[in-house]
Amino acid sequence: MTTNAQSKLAARYGAHDIAPLDAWNETLDQLLDHRSVRSFTDQPLPEGTLETLVAAAQSASTSSNLQVWSVVAVQDAGRKKRLSELAGNQAYIHQAPLFLVWLADLSRVSRIAEQQGVELEALPYLESLLLGTIDAALAAQNAVVALESLGLGSVYIGGIRNDIEGVARELGLPAQVYPVFGLCVGYPSTERPAKVKPRLPQQAVLHHETYTTAGEEQVLSEYDARLGAFYQREGMKASGWSEQVVSRLRNVSSLHGREALLGELARMGFGLR
Ligand SMILES: Cc1cc2nc3c(=O)[nH]c(=O)nc-3n(C[C@H](O)[C@H](O)[C@H](O)COP(=O)(O)O)c2cc1C
Repeated sequence: MTTNAQSKLAARYGAHDIAPLDAWNETLDQLLDHRSVRSFTDQPLPEGTLETLVAAAQSASTSSNLQVWSVVAVQDAGRKKRLSELAGNQAYIHQAPLFLVWLADLSRVSRIAEQQGVELEALPYLESLLLGTIDAALAAQNAVVALESLGLGSVYIGGIRNDIEGVARELGLPAQVYPVFGLCVGYPSTERPAKVKPRLPQQAVLHHETYTTAGEEQVLSEYDARLGAFYQREGMKASGWSEQVVSRLRNVSSLHGREALLGELARMGFGLR
C-alpha cells in the first residue's frame, strides 16, 4: 500500500472509501488518473503516434475476431471545423491536433461476402450493430489508455451522433458504417488542467452474486454531495449528480438529434431486426 495509491483512490471517489491493494502498480495509477481533456496546446503529435495508438486499439479484444470497426484520423483544419459544427460546435474538436472518429464497420465483412457470392443472413440484426459498437468502444478505450501513457489527453465526442448522416458524408463513409463517437487527441493545455472527476461509490455499481438496490438512496445522496463539492472546488455550478442525470434525460431535446438514430441507421444500410 502506498500513499500515492491512497490518494489516487481518494481522488477517484472524492472520499477515502477504498483501501488500496498491496500489489499496486503504475498501470493502476494511470487508469485512476484519467480525466477528459477539453483544452489542448498546438504542439503537434510526434511522428508515429497515430500508428502506435491504432496498434493499441487493435490489441483490444474483438468479438469472434471479426474486427468490425475502423477509425478515421482527421487532421485537416477545415474538416475538423465542419465536424465540430456537426457535433454541436464543440470548439476542442478543431483545437485538438488530431480528431479520431471511431466507426462500427460492417461494410468490410459485407464486401468479403460479396466477393465470395455469399449472403450474410446473420448480419442485418441488432446484434451486429451492437457487435460493431462494442468493438469500436473497446478499441477506442485502449487508444485512450495508450495516449494517456504518452502524456497526451483526450475527450470522447458523442456529439457526432447528433447527425451521423452528416458525419458520414463528411468522411465518405460507405453503407453499413456509422460513427460511434469521436475522440479529440492532443497535449493538454497547462492553463486550466483537467481534474479527476469523482465517480459513484462502489456500493452503487458493484453487486455481489445478485443485484440489489438496498442502501442505494443513502449512497447516491453521498455522491451528490461529493460531486457537488468537486464542482464547487472547480468553480462550476454545484449541482448534485441525481439532479444532473434527470435534467440530461428528462426531455428528448437533450438528445440533440440523436432521437432520429434508428431511422438514420436504417438509411445507412443497417438492418435492425
Ligand atoms: C461515449 C462518450 C461520449 C462523450 N461525449 C462527450 C461530448 O460530446 N462532449 C464532451 O465534452 N464530453 C463528452 N464525453 C466525456 C464525458 O463527459 C466524461 O467522460 C465524463 O463527464 C466523466 O469525466 P472524465 O472523463 O473527466 O472522468 C463523452 C464520454 C463518453 C464515454
